[in-house]
Parts: sequence; C-alpha cells; structure tokens
Amino acid sequence: MSAHLLEAVDLTRYYSVSRGFMKPKATVKALNGVSFTLDARKTLAVVGESGCGKSTLARQLTLIEAPTSGALRFSGDDAAGAGKEKLTRLRQQVQMVFQNPFASLNPRKSIEATLDEPLSINTKLSKAERHERIEALAAKVGLRPEHLRRYPHMFSGGQRQRIAIARAMILNPSIVVADEPVSALDVSIQAQILNLFMDLQQEFGTGYVFISHNLSVVEHVADELMVMYLGAAVEYGDKKTIYARPLHPYTRALMSATPALKPEDRRERIRIHGELPSPLNPPSGCSFHKRCPLAIERCKVEVPRLREVEGRQVACHVV
Ligand SMILES: Nc1ncnc2c1ncn2[C@@H]1O[C@H](COP(=O)(O)OP(=O)(O)O)[C@@H](O)[C@H]1O
Ligand SMILES: [Mg+2]
Repeated sequence: MSAHLLEAVDLTRYYSVSRGFMKPKATVKALNGVSFTLDARKTLAVVGESGCGKSTLARQLTLIEAPTSGALRFSGDDAAGAGKEKLTRLRQQVQMVFQNPFASLNPRKSIEATLDEPLSINTKLSKAERHERIEALAAKVGLRPEHLRRYPHMFSGGQRQRIAIARAMILNPSIVVADEPVSALDVSIQAQILNLFMDLQQEFGTGYVFISHNLSVVEHVADELMVMYLGAAVEYGDKKTIYARPLHPYTRALMSATPALKPEDRRERIRIHGELPSPLNPPSGCSFHKRCPLAIERCKVEVPRLREVEGRQVACHVV
C-alpha cells in the first residue's frame, strides 16, 4: 500500500507562557496528541470552538512551527529533523489559506506580482511562462486578466479570498490547509468560495485540511470529520457516518447548536453550559466532563482514549 499524502501521528504542541514577573512559566497544551491521515482529492474537516487548537494544528501541518512531539509524514517522508533544503521542498507541497484575505495579501503588490513571487522564487520558468501560468490559474479562480494589474484593496472580500486561494495553488501543492477560509465572508459569498475549493480539488487532486468552527460550513466539503475539544480529537471518522449519528456528547451538542443541521432528525438535544476550559489548567479526566450532561464518576478521573464505535473513533466513556 502506498503512503498517505499526509499522516499526523500523535501531533503535540505545547507553548511555554509567562504568568507574570517572578512567577514560574506555565505550559499551554494547545495541541495534545492529534492523529489522522489525508489522501489525495480528499478533505478532512477540523471543527471545534475557538481556542481548541485548530490554528495551532494548521501551523504544525504547514511547517510554520515544529511540533513539541509527534510525527508528520508527507507521502511517507518524515518532516522531523528535516534540514533547510528538505523543509523548503516540503513547504512547497503544503500551502495555507487564512481566514482574513486582506491581512494575508501585501497591499503594495499587484495581483500579478503576488502570484508571480512564489513562481519566480521556486521555479525556473521564464517571465512569459510565469505570466501564462498566472493567467490560466486566475481564470480558474474566477479572476479576469485585467484584475491582475490591480491591488488587493480594489477587491471585495470574496474576490480577495479567490486571490489568496490562487496564491496557495500557484505552485500546485499536494496539500492545502485552509484555516477558517470563509468565516470572514458574507454568507451569500461563502458557498461560492466553498464551491471554488471543490472545483480546484477536482481538477488538481489536492488534499485539503479544512478548518472551521461551524459544522454547517464543512458538511458539504468534507469527506472526513475531526471534532476537536481542548487540543484533542473527541470524534473522528467518515463525514456521513458522523453527521448521520454523532456519538460524542460534544459533537451532538455542536450539531444541535447548528440550526441548518436539522437537530430534530437526530438524537435528543444536548445543551452544554459554561466556557471552554483553559488549556493552561485543563480539567482532570475527560476534558469535557465539567460541561457534559452525560458525565459519570469515571469521566472525572480517567482520560478517555479514542476507540472504534459504530464505524468511527470516539473518545468517551459513556457512548
Ligand atoms: N504562540 C502561542 N503562545 C501561547 N499560547 C498559544 C499560542 N498559540 C496558541 N496558544 C493557545 O493555544 C490554544 C489554542 O489556540 P488556537 O490554536 O489559536 O485555537 P483555535 O484556532 O481553535 O481558536 C489557546 O488557548 C491559545 O491561547
Ligand atoms: Mg484559529
């Protein structure tokens, strides 16, 4: 069997943070042992509340940061201990799209210059060849040739995100990590951008890690779903299996809080109370137990491990 496009094994990222003058440093367990695989032309959606570690995961996958521990393999090639040259090569294979396309585009660069930069740095193509490639990709993301001479501020949010997507795609990466790529856009524009992602995936075979706090946004684009809570996966598996019958109480709560997902079709409503706990001071046992309506004594003391239940993985003592 050939290797997966991307494989994360027990990926962990801690941050050391100061708690004030003369106080000992504290450890934030932002990402606490996440594992998954991704194949070509597939989309893994990563969903969870703000602060659960999604952007930290994105920074590890795109090799912006080095994980505290765990392995990351690109088509079987281990990123750990990679030297400068290998890192450069791997980084070309995994590109990122951010939530805010205005912040991520250089206001002083025309669209042509923005898209030309990665090509002139990383390829030996001539100026004419680069221009041809830029025009062809611009057309695929819905930009016209005259747009290439313009600057980011002349575009709407949706068009800017098209530009950011083109920049991510220009080197033909095998993986794109998109961190809340439609969260800043009007709802009417979101579907267009989601469809663009899907069209480009069909054409280029790209694997996507698609991050969102919103389950209804990812329902259409995902093949697999990972629900995260406080730095760890609580439910992971095939999208259809989980949407048809979510098992983890946290997944069920997220689904019943998402009106478009018709909670009446599902099991009884689950409501959660209280805030996401701080990863600086996580609860004992199951990190969800203080907010969980189904928690039993065991949940307070024993960390639930992911295990196979009804065709997906769930980390819960009760289901
Ligand atoms: N560079 C950092 N230094 C310290 N703590 C961080 C850093 N980056 C993220 N965190 C903390 O890690 C946790 C996860 O953050 P993040 O990955 O941004 O979550 P999300 O993207 O799901 O909102 C949060 O508690 C956040 O405060
Ligand atoms: Mg984030």
